[in-house]
Amino acid sequence: MRGRVDEVWARRSDDTVPAVPSVMGSPPSRSMHPIPAGTLLGGQYRVLDGLGRGAMGVVVLASDERLDRLVAIKIMLPQYAADPRSRKRLLAEARAMARIRHRHVIEIHAFGELQGAPFLVMEYVPGTTLDRIIGQRAEPLGVDEGINLLEQLCRGVAAMHASGIVHRDLKPSNVLVDPWSRVVVADLGVARPLDPEPPEPFQEDTSTSGTPAYMAPERLAPSGTHPRLRTRGDVYSLGVIACQVLTGQLPYSGPVGLGVGELRPLRRLNPLLLPAFEPVLAAAVNEDPTVRTPNPLAFRAQLLEAAHLAWNHHRNLRIAVADVDKAHRDLMCMALARAFPRAAVAGHGRGDEAAAAVIREQTDLLVLDGTTESELTVALDLLQRTGSPRPKVLVVGSSVRNSGFSELTDRGVNGFVDKPIEPTRLVCQARVLLSGAR
Ligand SMILES: Nc1ncnc2c1ncn2[C@@H]1O[C@H](COP(=O)(O)OP(=O)(O)OP(=O)(O)O)[C@@H](O)[C@H]1O
Ligand SMILES: [Mg+2]
Repeated sequence: MRGRVDEVWARRSDDTVPAVPSVMGSPPSRSMHPIPAGTLLGGQYRVLDGLGRGAMGVVVLASDERLDRLVAIKIMLPQYAADPRSRKRLLAEARAMARIRHRHVIEIHAFGELQGAPFLVMEYVPGTTLDRIIGQRAEPLGVDEGINLLEQLCRGVAAMHASGIVHRDLKPSNVLVDPWSRVVVADLGVARPLDPEPPEPFQEDTSTSGTPAYMAPERLAPSGTHPRLRTRGDVYSLGVIACQVLTGQLPYSGPVGLGVGELRPLRRLNPLLLPAFEPVLAAAVNEDPTVRTPNPLAFRAQLLEAAHLAWNHHRNLRIAVADVDKAHRDLMCMALARAFPRAAVAGHGRGDEAAAAVIREQTDLLVLDGTTESELTVALDLLQRTGSPRPKVLVVGSSVRNSGFSELTDRGVNGFVDKPIEPTRLVCQARVLLSGAR
């Protein structure tokens, strides 16, 4: 069996590799991948490129030739595929994924096997990982940008818990971020159900699997974690990630994490971090799970509250909102007026009207409905032709996903929020765009 798998790994198909649809932009290019581009998996998935490499397998970008879309596939390396326990682990990962359906959690499409080596097919998230975002910056992310990512991450983890799954390996490299700043929790490799007696294939012996710096100390306790407190291990990891995002450093001064050492004075690490954040972060990384922040949604609410306090409310801003749908428009205007109490928020029925008004009056932010592509085009063209200082443009709606990210940024779009409108997403994105002008 091993030999045959190895053969497939080494084989290079003569078929031409299909072009990547422009909608996704160009795929990341990585050489030295153990699975050659062109390999056909399960008679349906044509491998295009490598995306990442983990402990037991690799993640590749592939084209689903039946459904004509890009997918990401995690494939077990042949040396592990021979071990039934490893195969069971990948199946457990797939089954954990299959229990959850949420915008901020990676979606599984299928599970298959190639000559004894299992693979799981999932949604492809173009873009990067939180790990790379943090690593690329010399300084911590801005508070607004950080909160924009963290609030989505908390929501994804909360959805997992609501579906009865604990992630247990939350860390920046397992958090995907697409070009529109959508956050997706990935890598459910050591996730477990909260069921009192988890069914097969969830194994018992992965309790200490994880990454020490992000792992709650109680995970190593010989008595284990009380079932009611198991989801709080994920809250600890979220707290560590939040510290890293907001301060650029891990919360504890000890060498390997696990709550070792002293809690760092977080505020001193990032002078832009207001005092309101310190107790919120400290409560999430509390070594004692019984007094830790109870769940991801509570942590998210506290982060958002601290971010609200941190915002400079004295700035006079001018914001224009364009949407033909009055209910949506009113909802957006209300959310923005609440978040920016001193701002002048004006609603318009049409994008071109709003663009004309924006050109007349100096406006900081224009929120444009992108549902109708033609109307969006008119408004963006109008703005591009103007010589006056241009506002930041936030597009709302799902049809814009049909255009490539870079195409829209070239046309002057700075940010994107999905419909149906979630006021928090709108406000967080608006803060990111407006924070540069503070
Ligand atoms: N659905 C996806 N879309 C795009 N990229 C992905 C996807 N899934 C994974 N990746 C990329 O592959 C990397 C490894 O994926 P993942 O963390 O799931 O694998 P792993 O084998 O569990 O790795 P490790 O054990 O090191 O955490 C990710 O950090 C990410 O860069
Ligand atoms: Mg991983």
